[in-house]
Amino acid sequence: IAQDLAGKVKPRYISQVKALGPYINFYIDWEKYGQEVLQDIDKNYGKGERTGKYLVEFAHPNTHKAYHIGHVRNIALGESLCRILEFSGLKVVRANYQGDIGPHVAKCLWGLLNLKLKGEGGKFLGEVYTAASKKVKENKKAEEEVRQINKDLYAGKKDLVKLWKKTRQWSLDYFDHIYKDFGAKFDRFYFESEVEGPGIKLAKELKKKGIAKESEGAIVMDLKKEGLGVYVLLTQDQTPLYSIKDFVLADLQDKEHKPDRIVHVVASEQDLHFKQLFKSLEIVNPKVAKKEYHLSYNLVTLPSGKMSSREGNVILYDDLKEEMHKLALKITKEKSELKGKELEKVASMVALGALKYGMISHSPEKEIVFDWDKIVDFQGDTAPYIQYTYARAQSILRKALTKGKAKASDLKEAKEKALIKKISEFPEIADKAAQDLRPHYVANYVFDLATLFNEFYQSIPVIGSEKEEARIFLVENVSQVLERGLQLLGIEAPEEM
Ligand code: ARG
Repeated sequence: IAQDLAGKVKPRYISQVKALGPYINFYIDWEKYGQEVLQDIDKNYGKGERTGKYLVEFAHPNTHKAYHIGHVRNIALGESLCRILEFSGLKVVRANYQGDIGPHVAKCLWGLLNLKLKGEGGKFLGEVYTAASKKVKENKKAEEEVRQINKDLYAGKKDLVKLWKKTRQWSLDYFDHIYKDFGAKFDRFYFESEVEGPGIKLAKELKKKGIAKESEGAIVMDLKKEGLGVYVLLTQDQTPLYSIKDFVLADLQDKEHKPDRIVHVVASEQDLHFKQLFKSLEIVNPKVAKKEYHLSYNLVTLPSGKMSSREGNVILYDDLKEEMHKLALKITKEKSELKGKELEKVASMVALGALKYGMISHSPEKEIVFDWDKIVDFQGDTAPYIQYTYARAQSILRKALTKGKAKASDLKEAKEKALIKKISEFPEIADKAAQDLRPHYVANYVFDLATLFNEFYQSIPVIGSEKEEARIFLVENVSQVLERGLQLLGIEAPEEM
């Protein structure tokens, strides 16, 4: 078979195909290969030709609650995924489904009315929520009051609705500035409050049709046969739950955007919810069920353990950003000669870059134990390391005496070949990341490319060498791909550092 095949295949860049016993050996025509790879590279290098439309739903924090480090994993992952999908050729709709109603909101409103805390704005609401949770816990009377607030809000009680609207806006304004940090521009904001009314109606309809059934006054989907237990849609006192709201949302998303796929970027704590939801949709709305996908990611924990906004042992986004910025400023100052505004700007790129990369570079099923010092380490598998590598490449290009030219015949060192080979893998990696919905492929790739580049740069002279032209060309291309890779991760690439 080997003999037979060897005579038939004629792949690109291959000078010889030889059968050797039961094996086939391929010999690369190095010059042809290097030349073609390098010549191909421009801004569009690696862009795919997939067709279709994906709706990606991510970020979706709840109003009246704290925005914390776990949300950072969500938004970093979601935005990067969107960029990777777009790069693969797909159309992407960025959707955000914010929980602006329900028990958590009632609890926060209870806190505002009862705890005499002073302040305003989204961050303040997070603090009120935490304080209220602590007070309400194991306090039967307060618990009852919260339940009443929830009911009154559903019933449209005037004063309460006014307070709700005002504070809801605080949260939304606050989220807006966070979305900017992550370069996420949403095409559609969905709200739980907009699907709750239709949710009640739908639950009742499903009961009438015999698809859902009544159980102790509540309306449920019985998924026991599927091994998924009982999925409650409407409680005894007729409040629509998260579950039924998602039924309505699914239909709405499908009708509004007609996507081929709907991807929900949501923490693994909701794995069961999505399994139950998708199983139910197979019965209720099979056309949409086929499109649904839950991109589940694991927790972000602190070395001291799990965080909970109810307990208040979380790192809030604002504090996180500020600390990261201080840290980034300190190490950027040590590393570079930048000053004043320039220094501030680069430090901010480094801080946000480190955060994003720290979240995206792990596969989603892995738990992340958050470590400040590790993610800004200039020598580690981090954004600052890659950003620094990029800036270094840019600095070489600024100093170059000649313009680069593709001359693969001059690039024969093992470290040069390794770089060319790595560059040639980019289109495939980017496409695979889109196909598997896994941005960390791109993160890992960019890190490997940066590492190979540093190895090359440390041992091979570029400027002033005999092969300057060809090597400059190689540096240009590496930095092009590094920049593209970082961009797919939502990370900025500084020209100087
Ligand atoms: N707002 C929800 C939360 O914070 C996440 C929304 C997830 N999306 C969905 N379609 N259920 O838990």
